[in-house]
Amino acid sequence: MNANEPLLELDSIVKTFKTSAGEVTVLKNINTQVGQGEFVSVIGKSGSGKSTLLNMITGIDHPTTGTVRIGGQYLHKLNEGQLSVWRGKMMGVVFQFFQLLPMLSLNENLLLPMDFARVYPPSEREARAWDLLEMVGLSEVADHFPASISGGQQQSAAIARALANNPPIIVADEPTGNLDSRVAEGVFALFERLAQQGKTVLMVTHDATLAKRAQRVLVLVDGELVNEAVSRVLPHLPHREMLVITKAARQVEMRGGEELPPGSWALIQHGCVEVTLPERGGHTVVEKVESGGILWLADLPEGAQVQACSAVVDALVVEEAGKLLSQTPMLRAGLSRERAERQARYAEVSKAPRKGWL
Ligand SMILES: Nc1ncnc2c1ncn2[C@@H]1O[C@H](COP(=O)(O)OP(=O)(O)OP(=O)(O)O)[C@@H](O)[C@H]1O
Ligand SMILES: [Mg+2]
Repeated sequence: MNANEPLLELDSIVKTFKTSAGEVTVLKNINTQVGQGEFVSVIGKSGSGKSTLLNMITGIDHPTTGTVRIGGQYLHKLNEGQLSVWRGKMMGVVFQFFQLLPMLSLNENLLLPMDFARVYPPSEREARAWDLLEMVGLSEVADHFPASISGGQQQSAAIARALANNPPIIVADEPTGNLDSRVAEGVFALFERLAQQGKTVLMVTHDATLAKRAQRVLVLVDGELVNEAVSRVLPHLPHREMLVITKAARQVEMRGGEELPPGSWALIQHGCVEVTLPERGGHTVVEKVESGGILWLADLPEGAQVQACSAVVDALVVEEAGKLLSQTPMLRAGLSRERAERQARYAEVSKAPRKGWL
């Protein structure tokens, strides 16, 4: 694998299930990349496709079309036997209901994946199991059976087990879903620490507060992925509105000094732009909009220009914001005051006639 390549790459993933009622497409053209050491949470309503997406990544299930590439390896090129060996080394999987083997002690639960993957020589496995249980605060109960410890402790043991073969990737499907909030916090903190230590963590969660603490949040809506800049800048919008914006917007890249192409709504993802108004003998900068800022271009006075003020600017631009707004009542309501303030500000700077409201 090339050092510059992402650790994980999902390319045009579509997943269709055949059911008695016909075919249902549960994942619709998912594209994303995750780098080494990133902590990514995946959120979305029940049935939006979160578990199905994780199953594509772990190779537990396969996409109908599209490819998954992890650490330079295309998963569809491995047969089932190769895939389970590969998974044992590359991935630690954590589930909502822990899934420790009830007739084995915690220690034995950790030894099992080590014996299967044979990453560590037999002489080192006992010590490694003990070290991992100590790391999650369970060394004193290492010889206990799962049923005799609490839910939080069982989940900690399951995380320790996921780390048994020191995989670069940890995939967790609602690991805190069955824990009370205080215990969930401890388990989440453990994932945060793992990411800080360089593990790549992908975690499905229903807990929006926990999700926000990840570096990246992937939002799934009916099997489609929301643009991450949209969910980051407008986290309070209903997921459905986030998707409407994602679909209406097009990605624009500008170099320093270039003008933003025509449109009526723009979200600055990276870099900055300046809004300038013509004045006798030159231009006045009336506003600088940085990464994460939103501009309603249709509100700008006649003659206003929007230019890149950093070397590179990435933006999302919607040409027809009128149509967008008709489908996004929460966005419209949330931004109306901000727009009015901005209009007032521009009016002070320029007596030029307005282009009018959207
Ligand atoms: N094997 C299957 N056959 C048919 N439909 C399936 C299958 N697995 C999942 N689905 C359907 O795919 C959709 C997405 O399911 P998935 O389990 O990925 O959702 P989820 O986002 O994980 O939901 P939850 O939050 O409830 O866990 C659902 O409508 C589900 O019924
Ligand atoms: Mg699920």
